[in-house]
Amino acid sequence: MTTERPLALIAGASRGIGRAAAQELARAGYNIVGWYRSNEAASEETAKLVAAQGGQYTGMQVDVRDEDSVRDGFKQLRGLDGTLSSVVITSGITKDGLAATMSTEKFRDVVETNLFGTFYICRTAMRAMRKTGGAIVLLSSTSGISGQPGQANYSASKGGVNALTQALAKEGAAAGIRVNAVAPGFTDTDMFRSMDAAARQRLTAQIPLGRVGEPEEVARAIRFLATDESSYITGQILAIDGGITA
Ligand SMILES: NC(=O)c1ccc[n+]([C@@H]2O[C@H](COP(=O)([O-])OP(=O)(O)OC[C@H]3O[C@@H](n4cnc5c(N)ncnc54)[C@H](OP(=O)(O)O)[C@@H]3O)[C@@H](O)[C@H]2O)c1
Repeated sequence: MTTERPLALIAGASRGIGRAAAQELARAGYNIVGWYRSNEAASEETAKLVAAQGGQYTGMQVDVRDEDSVRDGFKQLRGLDGTLSSVVITSGITKDGLAATMSTEKFRDVVETNLFGTFYICRTAMRAMRKTGGAIVLLSSTSGISGQPGQANYSASKGGVNALTQALAKEGAAAGIRVNAVAPGFTDTDMFRSMDAAARQRLTAQIPLGRVGEPEEVARAIRFLATDESSYITGQILAIDGGITA
């Protein structure tokens, strides 16, 4: 049986912001394909949460650092119901440390996941959506708007995501493909909780709204940019940060 529901691909849907975006887009009427790196149990949990919103969920293990893995992931979409309408790229990692003592490996891991991985997905997504149009939402960060000490690798990767968003928006416009990014501040996910408690407390004290964000608060902005609600918006980087970049 085929469904009329459009399809949204979310890279990094197994946890955090990606999981919240999967639920939000399922509520908006989408079937979801969710990619994860290795955490199959978390992906299965996302599947249950999406099903509770009335959406179909297909979990796939795809390593976004590997362009062949990304291509294979897109090939597997062909057998699924629904037209690919939205692509959301929430896969991302941090490996913090001061640049003066940072290993090349740490720099490369973060840039390969956050920037190259995003490029591999966008490249194939733009080909897949060239006849139908669609919306792509990239995950930047406030660290990509203003570089952060201890995050040279991460800030560089997210600054790259911002420039990629603008370039791809101009390339995709003629085909009706909109490309935008959200730039969260501190958001309560595993990534934020992996920082030590003292750092979290110090950083939270700098947020004008006085608290970290919830993944659902980022997911609502992702839904807006990933659907026709934002039909005349492209090439924008929307900060969702409790006022940090104000
Ligand atoms: N949380 C924050 O404070 C914050 C702030 C600003 C920006 N962001 C950005 O928002 C995005 C989501 O962050 P989050 O906090 O939700 O992170 P998270 O809770 O750590 O989840 C990361 C997700 O990315 C997936 N992933 C990581 N490496 C991957 C790879 N090589 N291939 C495929 N999937 C991969 C993980 O899969 P597995 O479950 O299999 O590991 C997981 O689903 C990231 O781009 C992050 O940089 C987060």
